[in-house]
Amino acid sequence: MSTNPKELSKSAVLFSRAKKVLPGGVSRNTIFKLPHPDYVEKGQGCYVTDIDGVTRIDFANNMASLIHGHANPEITQAIIEQVQKGTAFTMATEIEIEYAELLCERVPGFEKIRFVNSGTEAVMAMIKAARAFTGKEKIAKVEGAYHGAYDYAEVSQTAAPKNWGDEDQPASVPVANGTPEGALNDVIIIPYNNVEKALAILNQHKGELAGILIDPVSHRVGMVPASEAFVEALYQWTRANDALLMFDEVITFRVNYAGAQQNYKVAPDLTAIGKMIGGGFPVGAFAGRSDVMEVLDPTQPKVLLPHSGTFSANPVTMTAGLTAMRLFDEKAVDYVNALGDLARKEITHAIEKTGIKACVTGAGSMFRIHLKAQAPNNYRQAYANEDEAKGLKLLLSHLFEQGLMMINTCSAMLSTAMTEKEIMILVEHLTSGFEKVIEQYPSLKKS
Ligand SMILES: Cc1ncc(COP(=O)(O)O)c(C=O)c1O
Repeated sequence: MSTNPKELSKSAVLFSRAKKVLPGGVSRNTIFKLPHPDYVEKGQGCYVTDIDGVTRIDFANNMASLIHGHANPEITQAIIEQVQKGTAFTMATEIEIEYAELLCERVPGFEKIRFVNSGTEAVMAMIKAARAFTGKEKIAKVEGAYHGAYDYAEVSQTAAPKNWGDEDQPASVPVANGTPEGALNDVIIIPYNNVEKALAILNQHKGELAGILIDPVSHRVGMVPASEAFVEALYQWTRANDALLMFDEVITFRVNYAGAQQNYKVAPDLTAIGKMIGGGFPVGAFAGRSDVMEVLDPTQPKVLLPHSGTFSANPVTMTAGLTAMRLFDEKAVDYVNALGDLARKEITHAIEKTGIKACVTGAGSMFRIHLKAQAPNNYRQAYANEDEAKGLKLLLSHLFEQGLMMINTCSAMLSTAMTEKEIMILVEHLTSGFEKVIEQYPSLKKS
């Protein structure tokens, strides 16, 4: 790249400024890329324009948080009205009650709900509520699952072949340097969708576990739903062992009108949600059984989990979220899910046509492309080897050059602002991308 600033893109110029004041030049590593991240000018519907004037179709939707795409007119209008009345108060608001009513009516298992400011905070508070209610310290979680940045929730999230240990006893791998040994000891790792192995591990910790945390349509496996048998087994284990079943539906809440939990016969005791329920603003919430949520209740003689947050349930987020979720009614859920079905079907055709060793997994309005012939069913199977990782990188940069933004795992999160047209554009460019990948990495062609 030229060293003459005049020849640099506007994004490149901004990045050199950013590096002086932000670690690595970014505020979140998810958007980091080399030679520089791209800086946004504006978004409208399913299109985003960068500051160099390039417009792309947005399949990332701020990591699944924009179910209606960018600058939805109804949400925008509603928040403008609220912003003019004030943005945050040391007082309660009616809108938080209205939004809590909507969510509790929508999901049978949501008897009480509390709003927070991020998915990380929702999962953290949910785990703390489970501990407070059961009086036990440990939790179990699935290998490789991402649940945000809380020390306990992130254990094993970056597990890799060099450190993940035996499949019968997956290791509690830290993400951050300096993670307390205590956090690692207090998080028991189970494999996804393997009833026998998971129960064998859980049985070694009878009496110690406050709860089991799962992402019911695991993002890290490729938006692969937890099997009915797996969820049922974990549910029964928690009933028999005075523990709670916790669902992290921060991403998966979009899968059905009442979240992915609507697809199972048994319901979790507690659920964390976030992302799309903020209507484009920072948000999280956790909800569930009244008797468990009582640990937060300030009217109790002893509050088992004192809990607050300066911006929790602020009226701007509540207004945006309420408007977004009203718009995301059963018809809208069916609409985006049908787009997801179409995408999976057409991408499968493109895979067959090009002969690439690839597959597409997903549920509802979410999907992920793996450079693997077999669809994975757990984190270890989904883990990309060196060629696969390089192939995915090439595929993602090809798509980006062609005007399509995906999440960096080659995943897509659709929005109601999309139509079949955008899906077919993606399929067209994926087809040429697959051909490019095969050309560069012949090992990724089916023999
Ligand atoms: C399943 C899941 N849980 C929790 C989180 C954390 O949410 P946030 O980024 O809002 O803290 C994420 C974020 O990607 C997520 O995917």
